[in-house]
Amino acid sequence: MTVVYPRKLSNSLSARDIMQRVVPNREIHLITLNRYRYNEQHSCLDLTNVIEKLNGQPRELVRDLSHHVSDEARHAVWLTDLLYDLGADLGKPPGSSYIDEFDRLLDQEQYDPEQNLEDGIIAALAAINVTEKRGCEYFSAHIYALKQAPQTEENIKIRETIERIFPEEAGHVRWGNRWLAQMARKSPEHREKVEQARQKYAAIEQAAYESGMDITFGAELRRVSKLVDIANTLPVWERPQYLMQRLPETLVAPQLQLTRLQAAQRAWERDPKVFMEQFVPMFLNGLNQTQKKQKQKVG
Ligand SMILES: [Fe+2]
Ligand SMILES: [Fe+2]
Repeated sequence: MTVVYPRKLSNSLSARDIMQRVVPNREIHLITLNRYRYNEQHSCLDLTNVIEKLNGQPRELVRDLSHHVSDEARHAVWLTDLLYDLGADLGKPPGSSYIDEFDRLLDQEQYDPEQNLEDGIIAALAAINVTEKRGCEYFSAHIYALKQAPQTEENIKIRETIERIFPEEAGHVRWGNRWLAQMARKSPEHREKVEQARQKYAAIEQAAYESGMDITFGAELRRVSKLVDIANTLPVWERPQYLMQRLPETLVAPQLQLTRLQAAQRAWERDPKVFMEQFVPMFLNGLNQTQKKQKQKVG
């Protein structure tokens, strides 16, 4: 069975590269912690939804998921306490949210265990598993960056909190892998379904992740090409409907415009010279890359 790991961003910044830039900037560091808090809190809602749709069967999965909700709620509590003690914001983090974008891209009908119990379970497990892997990648990179950073009281407190969460997230990934392997063992048909779900939710997760990071010009067009990548993992007859439902929002992307504006404003206020030298070329670079990609597709 192919193991699908989250890919790096197309501009080749790894999680470690990103966290090494985030940790020294207190404002962005606190926003990042608040994003973790938001994602942990929101995942309780998503997992509860799955439990309610399962409606009691299979019993073992319902029991496991209820433990899972409790773990995620505890992570949200630890992060909320941390942010509260640091005097940081506890509201909805600025910019586009990874988990909201992930939910938007989910094919809710196929994800629904009420439609077809087994397909729904496979879809839910694959979707949970791929986001947990991304979480692990970031927590591990974050701990690494915090160990390199000055050992201030604040940095130590942040590292200790993430170090408590990380092993539990790694446990969630192992749990998901076990369940998916168990489903795959039932028959060659099940194996095929599990494999297809892994590919599909990896494509959805990658698109959600990149859209949160991708604030350069041309981002909307790249989001469309990601949407096509996702559609290509679906059966041919489901593709047009999937695309048509999501295309208008993907192109207009009000949240993306807001993120871009806020990021530009912050960079400008901090240092106008750096803004002209680094930020403007970054925007233009995004535009050039998109045009090149479009030409390649046409050619
Ligand atoms: Fe968590
Ligand atoms: Fe988790």
